[in-house]
Amino acid sequence: MDPLLTIIPQAAQALRSGKLVILPTETVYGLGADAENAQSVAAIYRVKGRPSNNPLIVHIKDIDSAARYGHINQTAKRLADIFWPGPLTIVVKRSSNCPLAETLSAGGTTIALRSPNHPVAQALLEEFGKGIAAPSANRSGRVSPTTAAHAESEFSPRPREIAMILDGGPCRVGIESTVVDCTQETPVILRPGSITKEMIEAALCRSLTTITNTSSLLKSPGMLESHYAPSLPVRLNAKEAMPGEALLTFGKNAPKAEKILSLSESGDLNEAANQLFASLRTLDNPAYSGIAVMPIPEAGIGIAINDRLRRAAAKKD
Ligand code: TXA
Ligand code: MG
Repeated sequence: MDPLLTIIPQAAQALRSGKLVILPTETVYGLGADAENAQSVAAIYRVKGRPSNNPLIVHIKDIDSAARYGHINQTAKRLADIFWPGPLTIVVKRSSNCPLAETLSAGGTTIALRSPNHPVAQALLEEFGKGIAAPSANRSGRVSPTTAAHAESEFSPRPREIAMILDGGPCRVGIESTVVDCTQETPVILRPGSITKEMIEAALCRSLTTITNTSSLLKSPGMLESHYAPSLPVRLNAKEAMPGEALLTFGKNAPKAEKILSLSESGDLNEAANQLFASLRTLDNPAYSGIAVMPIPEAGIGIAINDRLRRAAAKKD
């Protein structure tokens, strides 16, 4: 057995005692808490510096556990059947007598549910036996962590609320889950991810809406313009680096620059998604004046990559 799995009971105990545990998922690392304990959920908001109007995702083992918390309508059931465990978060109405902390819904009546596809996350969910609320394990507004070391560096010195960091290796997907709101007649993608609009449409045999204008909508505040942002300015669709800039490239025949990192030399969008946040972290170094990013094709998971890059480049308040 993986030695990591021997510390799962300890992590479950930490959650039961109200502490936070950083855990790996296939998308990014999460900052986990007992989703039924309002004080633990409050600790997530405090430690992350997260605005209280931004609701949290509850991670569950499977669709049966989801039904305790949310009203799983036909659309939600079909998506869960096809994509869980996996990088899809489904927003549904809270069930009546839902035992989850109210604050998870940030004043609303819905709940975001996801069954993660990672053996460590699954083992912890199994051992803990309840939902685990977990936003990405970064301070609010910053780049999500895709390794345990990145998560650790976000919270240093480590606040006493965080009992443990479970190291499950680098995340396979590297970009946060697709969020789809299933509470409406027509499902709406609130955040693009590796499960694309086309995949969801094929699963449901119908077309759906993607929200593009975020300023009018604070339904999913993860859609706030500036988000996933490094400290340095980020310049998109660059053809080359300006003096002092570091360059993030995609594909072959990249121009020369003082400092270059490639998201994928072969032009593979999955590899680019996997490398995105780690690359932004590496280049976010005061030795450079900014980060220039070459164009990424707006197709498939490229849509999610460009979404995160636009937010990284958005002007901060
Ligand atoms: O891949 C992921 O989703 C990762 C891993 C840890 O599972 N988690 C993650 O959580 O990215 P977070 O908190 O960084 O992003 C959650 C997103 C936010 O955009 C939030 O606004 C949205 O989900 N969200 C959560 N609950 C919602 C709800 N009830 N209605 C609409 N959007 C919701
Ligand atoms: Mg996040």
